[in-house]
Amino acid sequence: MSTGEIPFLELVTVHRELREELRSVFETALDTAGFIGGPVVQEFERDFSEFCESKVCVGVASGTDALRFALVAAGVQPGDTVVTVPLTFIATTEAISQVGARPDFVDVDARTYTMDPEKLRVYLETECSPDRRTGRVVSKRTGSPVTAVIPVHLYGQIADMDPLLELTARYNLILIEDACQAHGAEYFSKKEARWRKAGSMGHAAAFSFYPGKNLGACGEAGAVTTDDERLARHCQMLRDHGQSRKYFHDFEGYNGRLDAMQAGVLGVKLRHLAKWNEQRRERARSYDELFADSGATVALPHVPSWSRPVYHLYVVQVADRERLKKDLAAARIGSGIHYPIPLHLATAYETLGFRPGDFPVAERAASRVLSLPMFPTLAPEQQRRVVTAVVQSAGRGE
Ligand SMILES: Cc1ncc(COP(=O)(O)O)c(C=O)c1O
Repeated sequence: MSTGEIPFLELVTVHRELREELRSVFETALDTAGFIGGPVVQEFERDFSEFCESKVCVGVASGTDALRFALVAAGVQPGDTVVTVPLTFIATTEAISQVGARPDFVDVDARTYTMDPEKLRVYLETECSPDRRTGRVVSKRTGSPVTAVIPVHLYGQIADMDPLLELTARYNLILIEDACQAHGAEYFSKKEARWRKAGSMGHAAAFSFYPGKNLGACGEAGAVTTDDERLARHCQMLRDHGQSRKYFHDFEGYNGRLDAMQAGVLGVKLRHLAKWNEQRRERARSYDELFADSGATVALPHVPSWSRPVYHLYVVQVADRERLKKDLAAARIGSGIHYPIPLHLATAYETLGFRPGDFPVAERAASRVLSLPMFPTLAPEQQRRVVTAVVQSAGRGE
């Protein structure tokens, strides 16, 4: 059996295959000195909004900027409370804090790892009180109005959006999708009796094009998608120092533009995204089957009937995660942990006053999840080796 290294993520092959097209993107930028904004950015924005089935896309410098700008443009004010989940990358809560709002959390569903709508309902009904003056609810914990909710489409799977949208509508809340890991993921809305794309359901959505994402730039990049033209216009100004036109600053913004080289790269890669997502789904199916045949005691990704995930990550749960990680490393197999510390227990949020036990589902997941190698060119032989190594380490059921 081969003993070559199996990386957690392999990014070289795809760039080798697309080298000529990518080179011409860089050459066009050099030939035209068009580095910031311009037609290449606009073309990518058009193509990506079409891909997401949203009306508008605003290219920005990162997923974190996309979240920040979407929150501000949707109307979140300094002092507000914004609710998200503890099992996410810290950028979700950084964006909330950096617009002057305060993050609060509801727990995730134990099987999908995404925001549990029932927990959000209980939070809004029992941990908030109505404010008749504003028609909004005030968090008892933070003492400030809850104005927005950010469900995170984690690991490439959309959160259960129908009940979340029903709740946010009922409580007059903004809903921003954190779609940074979910380019192309789909959700079957029973309410609308149709499949919907990540980034097309909330007031706005944030995408990251960090290189390792399903659609990754050759550097930093992100985007906001929305059906709201005014919100999009606001994001366009926020990314460019609050300018309505050159040197006419209506408010303070940021330096958060998408540069033309990254937009060109993303435009090239976007043409392959549906195929790559399908290849990820095939690899996920192979893992599912290999694990099922092995009888291993690992919890596999759960896909509800309303979900078509894009497997940004293939995440399993085991009782002794640290041992499994070590055993895989010894077998020269890469793995990752997304994420080891739920954010309510991160040192950065000590001052928020949360304690272990506050969000038990996220805490248990954080101690047990392990992300296995997953990328479109992962080979069947590599997958067999991964599964064999996992089964050897984690053992089989009775
Ligand atoms: C869930 C989630 N939110 C936000 C971000 C932030 O994106 P970026 O790294 O492009 O700023 C990321 C990616 O790193 C992410 O995975």
